[in-house]
Amino acid sequence: MNGFTYHNPVKVVFGNGTFAQAGEEAAKLGKRAFVVSYGDGSVAGTLARLAELLDAAGVASEQFLEVVPNPPIEMVARGVERAKAFGADFVIGIGGGSAMDAAKAVAAGVLYTHGDLWNMVYASHSNVTAQPPESALPLLLIPTLPATGSEMNMCSVVSSTTRGKKSYIWADCLFAKTAILDPELTYTLPPFQTACGSVDAISHVLEIYINGQDKSDLLHEWQLGLMRTIVENLPVVLKNPTDPDARAELMWCATCGLNGWASPGDAWTPMHQVGHVLTSRHGINHGSSLAIVMPAWMDYHKALKPARYAAFARKVMGICGDGKTDAQLADEGIAAFRAFIKECGVPTTLSEKGVTEADIPGIVEGVKSVSFNADGVLSSNPPVTAEALAEILKKAL
Ligand SMILES: [Fe+2]
Repeated sequence: MNGFTYHNPVKVVFGNGTFAQAGEEAAKLGKRAFVVSYGDGSVAGTLARLAELLDAAGVASEQFLEVVPNPPIEMVARGVERAKAFGADFVIGIGGGSAMDAAKAVAAGVLYTHGDLWNMVYASHSNVTAQPPESALPLLLIPTLPATGSEMNMCSVVSSTTRGKKSYIWADCLFAKTAILDPELTYTLPPFQTACGSVDAISHVLEIYINGQDKSDLLHEWQLGLMRTIVENLPVVLKNPTDPDARAELMWCATCGLNGWASPGDAWTPMHQVGHVLTSRHGINHGSSLAIVMPAWMDYHKALKPARYAAFARKVMGICGDGKTDAQLADEGIAAFRAFIKECGVPTTLSEKGVTEADIPGIVEGVKSVSFNADGVLSSNPPVTAEALAEILKKAL
């Protein structure tokens, strides 16, 4: 079992109906809230209610509704200027991961003193020149899509349209002061977004489970339990979108999947590095990019860790292990996982998204330029070479 240092200061207010406490919690953080969210109408009702709650609590607010998926740093820069002009003393991010991540970047950007906001970003793993932010305005985060876990971690994923890159800011100051997790806010999520969010949440745990340390019993059981809970509850929600218990399970799983509890002592996210390039080069949404990479990645590596893949088959996918070898179970588990994702309406192959074998060298180069380390490999357990990555992508065609 690897050693680790764990720190997570986020106050979590969880449960159906807790959104009603947004004004009260906001008033503890400041008097002038800069609200970061979407302008496409998808959370319009929630934003209107938030404005009422803030008003009733005596908190002045201004809405910045320019967030789009894979939030561009150029949009963040506009938000920073608006927040400064408003005199914001704290920031509220409300929406999915992109809204919360944009809110984090804005909160840090307001106080950033190292020039171009892109300097905050770890844009290359082999040549780290990032100057992460040291401080940020207080943050209140309110997820409306369970997926990224951003509400309880210190990461903000952003992109740059001019640079064609997607990477992350990682800094202590990006922890929210408070996160309000109200599953009722997710009742109206469309099935595809719900499924993609769950696939993303599974991937945050699966990355660590299959690429991380070999011996850590409690960690592995926690990871398996998290993934199993999502696999059991996602179909329930797709059938009945207002099931309060299943929605609550998905929301808490997403938070716990990336708040550090599922990864103490490990930090492997190689599949996400590949997924980010599929998003930036081919416009594949985050959840779908991972749905495509995960089964192929597992298929490529299964022979190295048969017992771990067998446990995944039995404890996550519910496959009976009687009379089967670990290798057989590994194959059945991966096949069942791919079928599960497909049944939930998320693509599992590159070809479904119009990506061909001819595109693979470009994808590999994209991953190399951002995520390969100084040794020329993608950090993982085991590390992955450019040749191996090309083979994995072929399995994903
Ligand atoms: Fe993710």
